[in-house]
Order: sequence, then C-alpha cells, then structure tokens
Amino acid sequence: MHAIEDFDLRRPPPGFIDDPFPWYAALREHAPVHRCPDGSLLLTRYDDCLDVYRNPAVSSDKRNLFGPKFGDTPLYRHHTTSLVFNDPPYHTRVRATLAEALKPRAIEPTVAALERVVAKLIDELEARRDVDVIEHFASRVPVEIISSLLTVPPEDRDDLRRWSLAILGALEPELTAEQHADGNRAVVEFGDYLRGLIEYRRAHPADSPNDVLATLTALYDRGELSERELIHNCIFLLNAGHETTTNLIGNGVHCLATHPEAAARLRERPALIKSAVEEILRFASPNQLGNREVANATTVGGLHVEPGTQITLCIGAANRDPAQFAHPDVFDVERSPNHHLAFASGIHACVGMALARIEGKIALGALLERFGTIELRSSPPVRRRIRFRGLERLDVTLSR
Ligand code: HEM
Repeated sequence: MHAIEDFDLRRPPPGFIDDPFPWYAALREHAPVHRCPDGSLLLTRYDDCLDVYRNPAVSSDKRNLFGPKFGDTPLYRHHTTSLVFNDPPYHTRVRATLAEALKPRAIEPTVAALERVVAKLIDELEARRDVDVIEHFASRVPVEIISSLLTVPPEDRDDLRRWSLAILGALEPELTAEQHADGNRAVVEFGDYLRGLIEYRRAHPADSPNDVLATLTALYDRGELSERELIHNCIFLLNAGHETTTNLIGNGVHCLATHPEAAARLRERPALIKSAVEEILRFASPNQLGNREVANATTVGGLHVEPGTQITLCIGAANRDPAQFAHPDVFDVERSPNHHLAFASGIHACVGMALARIEGKIALGALLERFGTIELRSSPPVRRRIRFRGLERLDVTLSR
C-alpha cells in the first residue's frame, strides 16, 4: 500500500476502485482529516462528515470548484444551476417543490406502477435465466419510475441512461478530454430534448396523478424559475433519480448473491427487506463522495479551516466507521440502529430517499420471492468511478 500521507483522490492508487475500503480504513485511522495535494480536505470519519453536513459555515455552491474544471461550458452551467449545488434561498425554493412532489403520500400512485414494472421484469428474467442484472433489471426499474414522474414517453427512455452516465461521470475528481466532451454533448442533447418535451406537454398534458414536470413548469410560468433553472433541475432530477437507484439495486443483488445466508434469512422473513435495503445502502453506498466548500472560517474535524477550502466527505468510509457501526465490514441485514449517510444529511439530504427505498424494497423483495438461488457466473466488473459505486455488469443464473 502507498503511504497514506500521499493519498490523492485525483490519482487513486492501483486497486482503489475495485476495493476502496482498506484505504478508507487506513485514512480513518491515520489521517481522518487528510490534506490532498490540491489543498482540499478529505474526511473519512462518520462524526466529522455529519458535522460538516450540518455546519452552516459550509456551502454547496460549486462555482469556485467547477469554474476551473469545466470552463464556460454546458457542464458548468448545468452543475452550477441544479439545486444540489446551490445554497439558500434558491435551493430552498426548488427543494420545497420537489419535496412536496416526492413525499411518501405523493408517490403512492407511483408505487402501483412500480409493482407492475417489477413483476413484468421478473417474468422476463425467469424466461432468460442467465442474465446481466444491471442491464435487464437494476437499470430498468428506476428509469421507468423517474421517467413516469417526469412524463417521459417510453420510447425516449433509452437515451436518458446514456445522457445521465455522461453528465454524472463528469463529477469524477479527475476527467479525460473524452469525458468532458461526452458530458457537454449530453447536457446539450438532454436540454434540447426537455425543451421539446415541455412544449409538447403544454399542448398534450399527461394523464398522470403526480406530474412533476408540470409542477416544475408551473414555477417557471409564475416567474419563480428561469428557463435555464427549469431545464437544469429537470435534467438533475432525471439523473439523480436513476443512476444511484440502479446502483442500489445492482449492488443489492451482488450483496445477496455473495451472502447466500442473508438471502435465505430474507426469504424466511420477508419483512426484513426494509432493514436489508438500509444495510445495502450502508455497506455498498451508491454515492461514495460528497463535496462542500468552507464559506466562513470554521472548525472541521478539530482543525481550523479558512474560507475557500474544498472538502470531500467520504460517505463510503463514514458508513464503515467502527466508531458508529459495530463490525462495519460485516453485511448484516438485521443491523439496528443503522443511521448511515448514504443519503447525506442536513439541508441537502436526498429528497428522493422515500422513492429510492421503495424501489429497492419492491425490486429486491420480488427477486428474492421468485428465485431461490442467485448464482454469480463471473466476478462482476466495478464501474470505473470513484464517486458513484456500481457494477458495469452482473452476470448471474437465477433459479426458482
Ligand atoms: C439509492 C438511491 C439514491 C442515493 C444513494 C442518493 C443519494 C443522494 C445524496 C448523497 C444526496 C446529497 C448530495 C449532496 O449532499 O451534495 C442526494 C441529493 C438529492 N437526491 Fe438523491 N439519491 C438517491 C435517489 C434519488 C432519487 C430516486 C431521487 C429523485 C426521484 C433523488 C433526488 C435527489 C435530489 C433532488 C437531491 C438534491 C437535494 C438537495 O440538494 O436539497 N435521489 N441524493
């Protein structure tokens, strides 16, 4: 292993992407407030991450971080306009609308649709038997659900995954020229697509009990959002709503295939699916990193920090912190309490967490109910990402 004091998130050591957890453990123990070569701080302890999420002296505004990284490009405009990378009062206004549209009561009609989508996919999986879980299941469920909330017609949904992977891929700590170009192209194509969809929906309103696109368009009509803000928040929502949830389901199936005793316990006691989903979120967190910038001088992990300091919160490491979780490297579907940070905390805590949890529960619950064994056919390749943790493909054999 490299010396931990040389650790650099922008140039991760060999093997880090496949298995970052030994690195996280070493950082947590020897350098919990680690200064990276670019001057930013990397936090790996649970308590330090939680403190930062709740600290009013830190900001989510990413203009200083993304200006040099993206230049004056569509990617810069997108990422600095979406609510997640903004502070109040703009953030509060957009969040209030989304929180209303995504609260458990509002998504009830979506749950019925979700059950139908999952039942159909499970039948298809049974007919195939040997499947790539990512392609044939994990990526399909969330794209159907978030698309139906934003009234995207079924025939257009395939493009969303491609655009989303390119746009969220540009949030990696270090980018190639090709990733830049792909990300910029995806923002332009996605934006043009949404402009067309909004126009179409004005003429042909969707027959939907919870039309989030219409809710956001109404804010624009009342002058509460600019056109740029409308488009970029829709892009963000479509992206946020599906890649992370794809990884929750994909990582979940992988955890169950590699822990057959846990899968057996869940078949025996299906009610445990709720705590199992929380454990998957903790153990294989779909989003491993969060970022903040110090706006006013403050203390982080006992260290005085000046305004302008960039902070990376390592969710994946915080969720394996032995000071917070007993036997953190053990996958325990009955873990309680389990106050993981997979959805972050504080004012930016995930607004779609109720929906994500239901998707995880219904998808994994139905899979376990139908199939008595989930057998890995090969060791699955991990997607070459540091921020989002998921599998490129997951080949399994499913049997009743
Ligand atoms: C397992 C699935 C998911 C995970 C792990 C996840 C994770 C996160 C995290 C860590 C944040 C905080 C980002 C930050 O602090 O900078 C966040 C924010 C957000 N997520 Fe999720 N998310 C998931 C699913 C969803 C879904 C399904 C939706 C929408 C339907 C959604 C919509 C959002 C939105 C709008 C925000 C921004 C909230 C704000 O800035 O106030 N997410 N998510």
